[in-house]
Amino acid sequence: MTIEVDPDWWKSLFDEVYLITDARSVDDDRVTRQEISIFTTLIPLQPHERILDLCGGHGRHSMELYSRGFVDCTVLDYSRPLIDIGKNNAAEKGYAVSFIQGDARHTPLDSATFDHVLILGNSLGYIADPDADLLILKECGRLLRPQGWLLLDVTDGKSVRKKISPQAWHQVGDDIVVCRQREVNKGIISAREMVLSKSRGMIRDKTYRIRLYGEDDLVALARSAGFDGIQVHTNTSAMKCSDDVGCMNHRLVVSARKP
Ligand SMILES: C[S@@+](CC[C@H](N)C(=O)[O-])C[C@H]1O[C@@H](n2cnc3c(N)ncnc32)[C@H](O)[C@@H]1O
Repeated sequence: MTIEVDPDWWKSLFDEVYLITDARSVDDDRVTRQEISIFTTLIPLQPHERILDLCGGHGRHSMELYSRGFVDCTVLDYSRPLIDIGKNNAAEKGYAVSFIQGDARHTPLDSATFDHVLILGNSLGYIADPDADLLILKECGRLLRPQGWLLLDVTDGKSVRKKISPQAWHQVGDDIVVCRQREVNKGIISAREMVLSKSRGMIRDKTYRIRLYGEDDLVALARSAGFDGIQVHTNTSAMKCSDDVGCMNHRLVVSARKP
């Protein structure tokens, strides 16, 4: 690999600039609405149930769920900037969504208190330690009530390996250009992202690295974390555009239950 990456990249990448660079997938209400319409057909969510949106970023899925009457949503994310943006958005709309900053591997939340844990928008595979995602799923198991549901929505590694181009760029509004350089090696994608503002100059030059999952890997991970009733759902991406939106056009969704 020629792209060098700080193993702690995920602790600082997710901020206001990410909401611009990834706006096509994570800051487009139409996409979020479609995703929630798909996800709500895959697990039996009931309006009164407790839902944890783990690694939930600025809480777009919880906000959409709340607007549909799912009134007990908690968002937990490592990123302080995204948690603050989510809190402000919720306050502006008058939505009683809870936002908590924390690490998904070890949350401060009580055991067996959630009916559903959702990990959406490709939020696994960031931490260099190969056991980190297993720790996250074991934490989901601790937080769920018996018979509670886990829903994982990640990029489809097989499809990304086949289709992603080594270079991509796109423009955001009149001012911002986002350029990405990528390499895929041994099931891991490394990328350099340069963000140029025509008015302010270079506003980002960062690298990141994400572990890619195939169907079998995800099923094995959920099983190792103690889940059963594991089902894989393909063709679930709400991103039907032909643009190269990084890892986000090709998705794999897994549902599973705590025994
Ligand atoms: C691509 S974003 C998706 C956010 C959100 N789920 C969405 O779809 O808009 C991935 C998120 O995972 C969070 N994340 C990654 N690893 C985490 C960890 N160990 N603990 C908490 N949050 C984490 C990041 O901070 C980031 O907000």
